[in-house]
Amino acid sequence: MDDLKKPILPGKGASDYERYLHTDDLLGLQKRPEELSHKDEMTFQIVHQSSELLLKGVAFELERAHDHIAAGDFANAASLMRRANQMLEFPISMLHVLETITPYDYHIIRAGLGHGSGLDSPGFLALLHIGPRLGQVFYEQLHSKNVSIDDVYRRHEEFFGLHDVAERLMDFDERVHLFRLHHLKLAQRIIGGGVVGTMGTPVEVLHQRMEHFFYKELWDIRNQITAKANESMQRNGISCK
Ligand code: HEM
Repeated sequence: MDDLKKPILPGKGASDYERYLHTDDLLGLQKRPEELSHKDEMTFQIVHQSSELLLKGVAFELERAHDHIAAGDFANAASLMRRANQMLEFPISMLHVLETITPYDYHIIRAGLGHGSGLDSPGFLALLHIGPRLGQVFYEQLHSKNVSIDDVYRRHEEFFGLHDVAERLMDFDERVHLFRLHHLKLAQRIIGGGVVGTMGTPVEVLHQRMEHFFYKELWDIRNQITAKANESMQRNGISCK
């Protein structure tokens, strides 16, 4: 029985748990307590590092989904996109953890960030890279099947797989938007909305970036469907809301 407690995997760490997860390295990636500029810096670093890890996971699963869409395997694509979207919930909710840092304390931490900026976040840049490519393979599939976006929504039971992927794309686009919204509120709350960030970008730019959507066609189809429904109701003399 004692043998089961002994590690059998190669690497550092007293147990296989630590060796498999590289916990020595992972937990050594934060400043030591005596190196912190402020005690809140530990939370600041952990939230950022965890976000990067999760965004890496999101982009990885979306890359897999991309290949499934390209191969016409919509069921497996949608299930990986569901996982990715679920994972993206956490970087969004972790932003609220940082709202607990007060402005004066944050400026002590900020003084040690150099030119460090979220604009260089590898995880978020990976999302900006995969987002349009997912849309492209999806639209290529529609094109090759001679199906319009309106067909996918009007005949959603018939085109179940494509409809499922379209809705998961919407989930993803919505979450990226929500990340930007909550991040903007965080920045406004801590450093203010009328200032310039560590890379010289005005916080106002974060506001403008929120106008960006990956899948505008999928958002627009809702307007078109409603416009058609309104026309039809007006033809039939029914008032619409
Ligand atoms: C105290 C907390 C934070 C503040 C005050 C803050 C502030 C800012 C500011 C001012 C910018 C504009 C660019 C610049 O000049 O730096 C920015 C961009 C960005 N930050 Fe943060 N940030 C915070 C936390 C985070 C966290 C936890 C993440 C998670 C990865 C993050 C990710 C990003 C991303 C991805 C951008 C680019 C946004 C876009 O392209 O729309 N930030 N941040």
